Amino acid sequence: MSGEDASASQPPGGAASGSSTPGPGWTAPELDVLAAAARRLGAGFEDLPAWRPSPPGPASPGALEAVLMETASRLTDNYPYFHPLYAGQMLKPPHPVARLAYALAMLINPNNHALDGGRASSFMEREAVAGLAAMIGWPTHLGHLTGGGTLANLEALWVAGRLGGPEGVVLASADAHYTHGRLCGVLGLPFETVPVDPRGRLDVAALERRLARGDVATVVATLGTTGRGAVDPLADLTALRDRHRFRLHADAAYGGYFRLAGGVGAEAARHLAALAGADSVVVDPHKHGLQPYGCGAVLFRDPSVAAFYRHDSPYTYFTDADLHLGEISLECSRAGAAAVALWATQRLLPLERGGDFAAGLDRCVAAARALHGRLAADGRFLTLDAPELDIVVWAPAEDAAEAISAASRRCFEAAAERGVHLALTRLRAETVRRVWPQVDVGAAEEVTCLRACLMKPEHLDWLDELWAGVVAGVAGRAS
Ligand SMILES: Cc1ncc(COP(=O)(O)O)c(C=O)c1O
Repeated sequence: MSGEDASASQPPGGAASGSSTPGPGWTAPELDVLAAAARRLGAGFEDLPAWRPSPPGPASPGALEAVLMETASRLTDNYPYFHPLYAGQMLKPPHPVARLAYALAMLINPNNHALDGGRASSFMEREAVAGLAAMIGWPTHLGHLTGGGTLANLEALWVAGRLGGPEGVVLASADAHYTHGRLCGVLGLPFETVPVDPRGRLDVAALERRLARGDVATVVATLGTTGRGAVDPLADLTALRDRHRFRLHADAAYGGYFRLAGGVGAEAARHLAALAGADSVVVDPHKHGLQPYGCGAVLFRDPSVAAFYRHDSPYTYFTDADLHLGEISLECSRAGAAAVALWATQRLLPLERGGDFAAGLDRCVAAARALHGRLAADGRFLTLDAPELDIVVWAPAEDAAEAISAASRRCFEAAAERGVHLALTRLRAETVRRVWPQVDVGAAEEVTCLRACLMKPEHLDWLDELWAGVVAGVAGRAS
């Protein structure tokens, strides 16, 4: 069991003794609430004839327990993603209400393809997605949940391709998520990248030069790049769109929720506010929306793009003339439980500026700025500009590209030995030449650096412990 009070999120020195355990887990009150909610759910089906479930396999509780205990043992072969000392990949623990609502929905196991297979959960999905649209600033929209950001971007690019034609070029920055190029390959759309500026944001001047050739149908802006959390200049792109008439898709899979945060810088806030001007937006509840994996979302500003999805399914849409989500989605079966979990989370933590959800995001930004500040003040490290969101990239101070890459790998391992889990990333040689002109890049095409995703609000409390891991690989050098 994990701790049941707020001290569970405190760093080691601050925790009240005996009040918390280090692992993940359900608290006893959470399990009580889940049992009570399951009873309420069961009561809704009281008038069914009595029956006894008879799943295949051994019936003894002992057999089930043995397998579940073995399962738990297998799952210990993981990095501690749930813990504040983990700052590696983009992994954020789901909120307890999301886990509980998901588990509750499993008793029904709804399929949100059709109202026939996932009735309540389809309506909950529509409400939850309307909440995302309101966050973007759209009074009307068309949208639905997806298995993740990749599927959501696939749908946005598919619609863009239907509108722009098979010859229309899709442009994204060189730092956009790798799947955009691959998805365009799947869709048969020509794809090109546009250089980024030293801060990792799409270079507007380079884009304008490329637009002048006249064959661009779609521009993808990334609001929160995967590598650096950079926010592309969306507000400037909406102005360009009006002149050059391309479709503007915002991949805000990572950064979209930061539209609610008060603590991001003025420039990032301006471009996050411009999400309302995009033609389509992807935002991933399973990244910063406190959801279990399997929850992305794609939204379109113009609901009439529903026409592209039109199809018939004689075996699924039969009880209701109302919209079935499968009628506006490329995926067929989808977990209704994902919608239920998101709906419940948004009920508890409404998507509003100044609310508790937004405060959690602000703590992540504050943690990233604080870590960046410590790195920038320490001569043992090379830093980039202050992070726009909550991802920090840095490198050990060395004179040459190869030495930086090797030292980054040593720091990564030294931190892990201290129980601090960071990530490695690579900066392109041309970026390194611009941001660290003193470094001899030689013939290297890329330089390996360190990266931390400070996605948990608790990271702010754990900065000293994280720092001990960050400096472990450069210990002994003058700071
Ligand atoms: C900006 C961005 N877009 C798209 C994706 C792909 O999302 P998913 O992994 O949910 O498919 C990611 C994943 O990290 C991302 O950061």
